[in-house]
Amino acid sequence: MCGIVGYTGPREAYPIVLKGLKRLEYRGYDSSGVALLNNKQIKVYKKKGKVAELEEAAIGQDIHANIGIGHTRWATHGEPSDRNAHPHQSQSGELAMIHNGIIENYTQIKKELESKGYHFKSDTDTEVLLNFIEDIKINNNCSLEEALRIALKRVVGAYCILLIAKDEPETIIAARKGSPLVIGIGKGEHFLASDASPIIEYTKEVVYVNDYEIAIVKPDELILKNLGNEKQTPFITKLDMELAAIEKGGYDHFMLKEIHEQPSTIHDCLRGRLLPQSLQIMMGGIENNMEAFINANRIMIVACGTSWHAGLIAEYLIEEFCRIPVEVEYASEFRYRNPVIHRGDVIIAISQSGETADTLVALESAKEKGAFIFGVVNAVGSSIARLSHAGAYTHSGPEIGVASTKAFTGQLAVLMMMALKIGYAKGTLSKDRYAQLMHDLELIPEKIKEILADTSNIQRIAEKYKDAADFLFLGRGYNFPVALEGALKLKEISYIHAEGYPAAEMKHGPIALVDENLPVVFVATKDSYYEKIVSNVQEIKARKGKVLAVATAGDEVIPGMADDVMFVPDADEAIAPLLSVVPLQLLSYYVGLYKGLDVDKPRNLAKSVTVE
Ligand code: AGP
Repeated sequence: MCGIVGYTGPREAYPIVLKGLKRLEYRGYDSSGVALLNNKQIKVYKKKGKVAELEEAAIGQDIHANIGIGHTRWATHGEPSDRNAHPHQSQSGELAMIHNGIIENYTQIKKELESKGYHFKSDTDTEVLLNFIEDIKINNNCSLEEALRIALKRVVGAYCILLIAKDEPETIIAARKGSPLVIGIGKGEHFLASDASPIIEYTKEVVYVNDYEIAIVKPDELILKNLGNEKQTPFITKLDMELAAIEKGGYDHFMLKEIHEQPSTIHDCLRGRLLPQSLQIMMGGIENNMEAFINANRIMIVACGTSWHAGLIAEYLIEEFCRIPVEVEYASEFRYRNPVIHRGDVIIAISQSGETADTLVALESAKEKGAFIFGVVNAVGSSIARLSHAGAYTHSGPEIGVASTKAFTGQLAVLMMMALKIGYAKGTLSKDRYAQLMHDLELIPEKIKEILADTSNIQRIAEKYKDAADFLFLGRGYNFPVALEGALKLKEISYIHAEGYPAAEMKHGPIALVDENLPVVFVATKDSYYEKIVSNVQEIKARKGKVLAVATAGDEVIPGMADDVMFVPDADEAIAPLLSVVPLQLLSYYVGLYKGLDVDKPRNLAKSVTVE
């Protein structure tokens, strides 16, 4: 949830750490801070709010140091404030630490420490862990590394922590469990971060630290150990990412850039996989595990947020083309519901970041019960990708905007190829339909370009409805999850209350909300539910509701009934969600923009939710 950065080497640490925090700010922006170690002195600068406020506050301060750690926060324990901002210093001032995660048993440890005379400057679990480590170091008269190992055996929860100590002038000690940590290997220097975006401009050689590992990092040395104090061999990976991918590229916001990137990101996702000419879909992860899918009694899809909406569309696809029953699960509920899982059950895990804690812990427990885990992930090398037995990357490139857009359409493209490939192999999908759907999928990048070519109509609609207090989003069939996604995007970006519903469900209650002040967005493209959705539009119009519709180009019926229309090119109903979601992404972007909100970093949110 939070962003963590560290540097040790010959360069000035502060500018590297500060720039890293700006790159990771999408992970949390309640407060930020740095700790710099020089001449056996630790200097801590921290501030509530965005990294820019920290930068302002550090002007004129002594920022010289060759080792430093930095943190940008998404508050869990203790409200956003200077006092609760990281880094925290131990009671003696000898140690400083930053932390991403939650220490669940911190109150008990805090009581023990308070009974020993410890006082706390903040409300955070982190300061408790730090003083716990210091207490062990003092009482056991052991090294910081040893004290950390002992402490970590006592704490319950998730963590990625970076520690520095006055008496260890070049060393950063790091540890992780549940929260991500990447270490970049330079020449005589090392970079540490929650993900690769702060590291990419310095080196492409990285090590993804595993759970229960401790890293002792010096300018020219990286030692990895497990909690049993046994050395681990660092596995070096080469990053396949360019700096430009994490820059705005001339757009005002990452969200707008990422919406406009979809023609190329979907093309990248299909490239080398979708081969309509030879009627093949090349997906090694599926190919090598086809038996598991074909013989599956059921498939469970586990995800959160936007990824869960992609899972709902996959349910329609897999049941229609593979005739395998599908259950779509909110990861957080699935984990603690103690679901019935049989050995060999197939679980598809969907995640952009690959680090969402709710999904990760759900998969860990399912894997223990013998389930086969197939990951659909965007972030290469992420925890969910490494935990899965097999998988498929969406190749959407780094997604920086907190509201997921291009990763969603990347997930849909992968899930569509999976359903077509398994259905055709299983014989539940005819050759003609298989070929037709592959053809339709291949045309999607060009069709999205048509939608993006002129967004002035969507901008006009956004301006018209930006002051609405509530919105309803309605759809049927494949368009129902698209309606849910449209509602989520608007909530995230504009803070307007919005609900998505199956259109027919309206009559069973929500229609009571409808009046002349309620904009109702229909995802009403031409499909097998079309006639039904037309009657649903009439029901809303009969109650003076304002109807906005996503309609298929050339349709005259829906436009004749709706107050405002956003057209998309025609496509098969199973493929159309890749098109119908785009106007809804743009609508939420422009409503947020016209309300003067920070569309890339909406309040209270973070890009990767690494705490349960
Ligand atoms: C979507 O815009 C949100 N950022 C959020 O709902 C997100 O989809 C959810 O947190 C799941 O994230 P993941 O795909 O990285 O697992």
